[in-house]
Amino acid sequence: MSKNYCVAVAGATGAVGVEMVKTLEKRNFPVGKLKLLASARSAGKCVKFHGENVVIEEMTKESFKGVDIALFSAGGDISREYRDAVVSSGAVMIDNSSAFRLDPGVPLVVPEVNPEDVALHRGVIANPNCTTAIMLVAVAPLHRAKGVKRMVVSTYQAASGAGAKGMQELIDQTRQVLDGREISPKAFAHRIAFNLIPHIDSFTDNGYTKEELKMLNEARKMLHLPELLLSCTSVRIPALRAHSEALNIEFEREITPDEARAILAKAPGVTLADDPANNVYPMPVDATEKYDVLVGRIRQDISRNDRRGLDLFVSGDQLLKGAALNAVQIAELL
Ligand code: A2P
Repeated sequence: MSKNYCVAVAGATGAVGVEMVKTLEKRNFPVGKLKLLASARSAGKCVKFHGENVVIEEMTKESFKGVDIALFSAGGDISREYRDAVVSSGAVMIDNSSAFRLDPGVPLVVPEVNPEDVALHRGVIANPNCTTAIMLVAVAPLHRAKGVKRMVVSTYQAASGAGAKGMQELIDQTRQVLDGREISPKAFAHRIAFNLIPHIDSFTDNGYTKEELKMLNEARKMLHLPELLLSCTSVRIPALRAHSEALNIEFEREITPDEARAILAKAPGVTLADDPANNVYPMPVDATEKYDVLVGRIRQDISRNDRRGLDLFVSGDQLLKGAALNAVQIAELL
């Protein structure tokens, strides 16, 4: 007989938290009891789960007694603050923040990429950066077949990466600009409506942002490829909730676009959207609310005189594969 689990969602009112609850319901995760946790501001509000009202509680260190799995998406500081309380209560923390991702004692997992790493956990499992998760769903099967050596990536990231307030700012600001009203950016450093911003997370000493370096460091960890070379430019664009990425990939061995398509057609979590003659390619509006990552625009890199380079384009729902879905899939592996 299958067990029913006590599952807590920490940050249940946030953009990712809301999707975590929906994903637990949609995938029929064996939830015996659901605890929805947020700040005092949200305590007392109700959320429907399988037709029943669940009341949101203020999160405290005592909230995790009897909890089996705690899905965290309330920001890195909160995850750091609550880690000991969660682990000492016997729950497994699946954390969506960047707080523990590079900690050698914490597995960083995308189930389509490195499911075996889940077994190494000691109470905490990290959910990767959203753009990295979306990229690796497409790249890992190609890597297994041909060995990835170096990548150059440009990202086109949706407003949802800045949480519910980021999505609201894009919607409100678009109206304000159309109406010729004053705008005052808050969630982003600059205006996001009818613009793009080549700046996500803070800048580091070498000129890259932390977001760009997450792509390198988290990809190395999940592919178990410490020598991987990767350069990334991360850009915020006025899309609502799906991230896109242009990937230029150099392989150890030759690979043709047809071979790549055959590999990706069978890869879990991937839907091929690669029929340019009929205007079919990955786009954020088509990836929105989909579990799979869309992959297309697959072509041989013409800047090389061998067949070891490919270019492709991916789009994936930032709130699902980039966050909530991946966390629930990790819980399913557990
Ligand atoms: P609340 O809505 O009560 O502020 P997002 O990433 O979309 O901005 O969401 C952040 C999530 O983290 C929200 O659910 C928010 O709850 C929650 N949160 C923020 N601060 C705290 C806190 N001190 N304790 C518990 N949850 C918090």
